[in-house]
Amino acid sequence: MASSALQAFLDKLQQLESAFEAAVEEVEDPEELESIRVTYLSRRGSLVQCLSQLKDLPDEDRPEAGKTANRIKQRLQDRFARIQEELQQKRDRARRQDFDPTLPGRSPRTGTLHPVTLVSDEICSIFRSLGYEVVLGPEVETDFYNFEALNIPQDHPARDMQDTLYLSDSIVLRTHTSPLQIRTMQEQSPPLAAVAPGKVYRRDADLTHSPMFNQIEGFLVDRRVSMADLRGTLAHFLRRIFSRDIQVRFRPSFFPFTEPSAEVDISCVICSGKGFSQDGSPCRVCKQTGFVEILGCGMIDPEVFKAVDYDPEEYSGFAFGLGVERVAMLKHGIDDLRLFFDNDLPFLDQFRFYPAT
Ligand code: PHE
Repeated sequence: MASSALQAFLDKLQQLESAFEAAVEEVEDPEELESIRVTYLSRRGSLVQCLSQLKDLPDEDRPEAGKTANRIKQRLQDRFARIQEELQQKRDRARRQDFDPTLPGRSPRTGTLHPVTLVSDEICSIFRSLGYEVVLGPEVETDFYNFEALNIPQDHPARDMQDTLYLSDSIVLRTHTSPLQIRTMQEQSPPLAAVAPGKVYRRDADLTHSPMFNQIEGFLVDRRVSMADLRGTLAHFLRRIFSRDIQVRFRPSFFPFTEPSAEVDISCVICSGKGFSQDGSPCRVCKQTGFVEILGCGMIDPEVFKAVDYDPEEYSGFAFGLGVERVAMLKHGIDDLRLFFDNDLPFLDQFRFYPAT
């Protein structure tokens, strides 16, 4: 017959086991199970508390009390481990059901070519289709290539036309792509035809000017090249890059390296040359003139040929230079130059599906 102290101890263990059983019966998720572990099985839990009362029992009760206590402890621990295992399996099964191996994969988000690059590529590819080659040159240029050989001598007032960024007395950041005329003519002999895309730099920054922008130079040298060839080439190019029905207009102008020189206007692609927007307000792009300036050009000056040892009596040629940002703005109806330099991803992303050339 057990002593009443032993009986009380065993009853307590019994209650503890029932309470534990009731708790784990309901358990749904690992967090709940963990809180049950803390309540019953941790070092401060009720099982340890109960076992600590063993030492208060009379000596003769302790063996039996200890044996029972150990059995129950073992049962609780086994039960706990089993439930933990079951929950884990349930969770794995759920995960496997969530996973649909037939879903298309997520591809990494790629970058896009910049709209200015796209337009520059498109222009070059139009000229390539006409037999022009693409040539490149340095952005840091000598005074000779940027000015001197292009018939812009030291102290010539034409140097003021371009706000030059000087790196030293004789080294500049190129102010235009025209140095490529000289470099290419030095390397090759006529007949030749090339376009030269690239960055150019000027001390100029406001709403419509950036200190760095992109130009494309084009030039062709052969026997008996005339202004009519220049006009035909540019009209063809402009209709391909903008649209078939634009009008092209030549205006007399001046450049030191071409003679005669012209500036070329096209009918405004924003208001279709009407000078007014659809709502009747004056067109902001062409300022009601119906035309916008698009490039400078002319017949290569004999002085330039002399600088590269071509005989101006034998050869003639034409050259033109255009601003790529300007073409891109007109082509896409963009009215703020700064958008090209801000690296605003939503803006740039609009050109993701613009046809690559
Ligand atoms: N280089 C001139 C400029 O930057 C453009 C131009 C090029 C004009 C070729 C005539 C011929 O303004």
